[in-house]
Amino acid sequence: LWLAVGIRRRQPGEPAVENGFIPYLGCALQFGANPLQFLRSRQKRYGHIFTCKIAGQYIHFLCDPFSYHSVIRQGRHLDWRKFHFATSVKAFGHDSFDPRHGHTTENLHQTFLKTLQGEALPSLIESMMGHLQDVMLMSDTLSPSKDHWDVDGIFAFCYKVMFESGYLTLFGKELGEDKVQAKQEAQKALVLNALENFKEFDKIFPALVAGLPIHVFKSAHSARENLAKTMHAENLSKRENVSDLISMRMILNDSLSTFNDVSKSRTHVALLWASQANTLPATFWSLFYLIRSPDAMKAACEEVQRILEDSDLKVDPSNPTLNLNRDQLDNMPVMDSIIKEAMRLSSASMNVRVAKEDFLLHLDNQEAYRIRKDDVIALYPPMLHFDPDIYEDPYEFKFDRFLDEKGKEKVNFSRNGRRLRYFNMPFGSGVTKCPGRFFAVYEIKQFLTLVLSYFDMELLDPATQVPPLDQSRAGLGILQPTYDVDFRYKLRSTC
Ligand code: HEM
Repeated sequence: LWLAVGIRRRQPGEPAVENGFIPYLGCALQFGANPLQFLRSRQKRYGHIFTCKIAGQYIHFLCDPFSYHSVIRQGRHLDWRKFHFATSVKAFGHDSFDPRHGHTTENLHQTFLKTLQGEALPSLIESMMGHLQDVMLMSDTLSPSKDHWDVDGIFAFCYKVMFESGYLTLFGKELGEDKVQAKQEAQKALVLNALENFKEFDKIFPALVAGLPIHVFKSAHSARENLAKTMHAENLSKRENVSDLISMRMILNDSLSTFNDVSKSRTHVALLWASQANTLPATFWSLFYLIRSPDAMKAACEEVQRILEDSDLKVDPSNPTLNLNRDQLDNMPVMDSIIKEAMRLSSASMNVRVAKEDFLLHLDNQEAYRIRKDDVIALYPPMLHFDPDIYEDPYEFKFDRFLDEKGKEKVNFSRNGRRLRYFNMPFGSGVTKCPGRFFAVYEIKQFLTLVLSYFDMELLDPATQVPPLDQSRAGLGILQPTYDVDFRYKLRSTC
């Protein structure tokens, strides 16, 4: 009978199991309403590990940070590819990247490491710095003035500036675009269209990951396909300064895969999404907390001033050509701490692995649990990020939380007197850790440095509260605010 109604009974040696009350959905609704609260209450009841049925899938939640390594280190029992590749196929509609499915022999992981890290970073940084200043000051995206304040939502502002700059950095500009005004306008329209399509598609992303077919969402479906059309090889080949990431992916799509043209362009949409969906809200939270916290603002301004003076750079909005290289950006610990703290408070990415076979999962306290083949094991980092035994006053923004006494990066965090190896995980972990994380932090740092250099900024309502996190995206990365917060800005000449 248990099997007939799809309910699992706990076997000896297995974690405690909760099937929930609703067939198929199991605990999905309770989990979805407030994942952190749900997991904390179950942790209290069951201990370090327990199993919940969520939308037909049995998930073992591991809550002891000292046992995280048993999931994060790439053991022979756990598979990371199955879940990740399947999710990408569900959301973006391309053929599978899993080499076992026979559509491609590309090692995607290697492509990402080669084109987003190490030697690839200086040109990404330089390109982003140029685009950010063009978008902020030279194009009509903002058109800021010295004489009057402009009002905007902080999220709307970050969205416009970061989307356009990030898009141009990865996908380049149409050839010869600078010379002819009509082409410039066409280029602008293309980016604006991409932004609108991206927004429309991103709205339903959680539903796609949950398994709903895209056909149910008419406008989001056509938004995704419109994006894919602009990324057809024929269109991309008309662009210059395309990043190594996209040009290499185009070559490998052609040489190593049997993807058709639509599938190929959908793989580029997947990269557009990966490069923007978390960066946009992370930029919002960084700027929001910075504007709202006078001590953060003071420390960040001093740091920006120091870096500009040391590099002999002058701020001139009529000739916006500030350029900071990787070493200079690496020497900004206050900005690093602000960005880390903003992401600690807003990130909710679930770290997921799938059991390849029945096996015993060993925890730090010497206990071992039986895990069944095809079960999912999940880590939910907000349990660390909001743990008062790790972070004092965990719900408060403290700009210097990630600085040590000497003002350098703090790397020593403990729980119950024991040093933690994992304490801040906005980018995931182990082999699936975000390959774009270095670039992501650089681009947010560049953005903050530039807005501090060029603008005066104030909240419209200085007593504004922190907007709640939109939990509908819990598990997928940096959460968005449930509503935008208004601020005003105008040009200035010094920080
Ligand atoms: C994957 C976070 C920005 C490229 C991921 C994952 C997370 C993440 C949590 C999944 C890890 C997992 O499944 O365990 C973030 C955050 C960002 C950010 C918080 C910004 C603040 C970027 C940027 C790029 C990028 C700017 C590229 C330019 C990717 C790619 C993957 C990925 C390609 C898939 C990797 C794979 O499946 O092998 N990111 N990301 N990300 N991210 Fe990021």
